[in-house]
Amino acid sequence: MSIVVTGATGHLGRHVVQQLLEKVPADQVTAVVRDEAKAADLAARGVRLAVADYNRPETFDGVFAAGDKVLLISGNEFDKGRVAQHKAVIDAAKAAGVALLAYTSAPGSLKAALADDHRDTEEILLASGLPYTLLRNGWYHENYTENLAPVLEHGAVVQAAGEGRVSAASRADYAAAAVAVLTGEGHENKTYELGGDEAWGFAEYAAELSRQTGKEITYNPVTVDAYTQILTGAGLPGPLAGVLAGVDASIEKGELAISTGDLSRLAGRPTTPLADAIAAALKG
Ligand SMILES: NC(=O)c1ccc[n+]([C@@H]2O[C@H](COP(=O)([O-])OP(=O)(O)OC[C@H]3O[C@@H](n4cnc5c(N)ncnc54)[C@H](OP(=O)(O)O)[C@@H]3O)[C@@H](O)[C@H]2O)c1
Repeated sequence: MSIVVTGATGHLGRHVVQQLLEKVPADQVTAVVRDEAKAADLAARGVRLAVADYNRPETFDGVFAAGDKVLLISGNEFDKGRVAQHKAVIDAAKAAGVALLAYTSAPGSLKAALADDHRDTEEILLASGLPYTLLRNGWYHENYTENLAPVLEHGAVVQAAGEGRVSAASRADYAAAAVAVLTGEGHENKTYELGGDEAWGFAEYAAELSRQTGKEITYNPVTVDAYTQILTGAGLPGPLAGVLAGVDASIEKGELAISTGDLSRLAGRPTTPLADAIAAALKG
């Protein structure tokens, strides 16, 4: 029996494995990775590696065993049919008879196109009859704080979210919730709506950046169309730019403001404040 984490070499997956290793012996953790070389540090710590690709269902044969607790971290290949990718993992978990499959989904309140793959995956998971946990992750602070260079260069935060507020938290917070589910009891067939304790708007974000950098940084709200053009101008493929701009429209409507308290309750501590996430990013 093992705790199995897919996407283990991704940003969130690395936090999850790191935090699991603080709670359980390394030989009880399996990291599912596409590229073994990327996971050499995990293997060195005694974590079992399984090499598998969401695009090749046969590579999941034998990855799971009866009684395993599995975290399926949603993929990031938007153009490759993420629902079929996730189904391949769910099918393999079902065939093996795992004890739990937790899935990193999107908030139930999020109506943007980005959420479609998550809703479809949730349906497949529920229809599978497997014991499940839906970790409906809200937005990451890092979606913004990892892209500070253009903001600092132009002295402007440009978004299409109006005065909307977002309950973001750090990836480490969402990882802590996942670890609580994977190592705790009583999470079968539960849905958690996860978000940061305090919602913030982009004007506050710009003000906090100004405070910490000593530079004048303002929020420049633009329309969804203008933002889509800015993103394509920066080199993003049109469809992806449209999806990301759609998220801003959802933020303006309040669809990423989550007030359940599920995240800090599961993590057992308050979520990371925006100011701390900015400070961490500025430190590099
Ligand atoms: N809540 C949010 O704000 C937010 C923001 C962005 C994304 N997300 C979603 O949350 C997920 C985790 O976030 P993250 O920051 O950890 O993203 P990330 O760093 O891009 O990690 C994605 C992980 O998925 C793995 N993966 C992608 N395609 C795969 C395939 N075909 N087969 C096997 N593994 C595959 C990647 O493997 P490699 O390590 O080999 O590349 C990586 O480990 C993302 O994939 C996305 O679905 C959420």
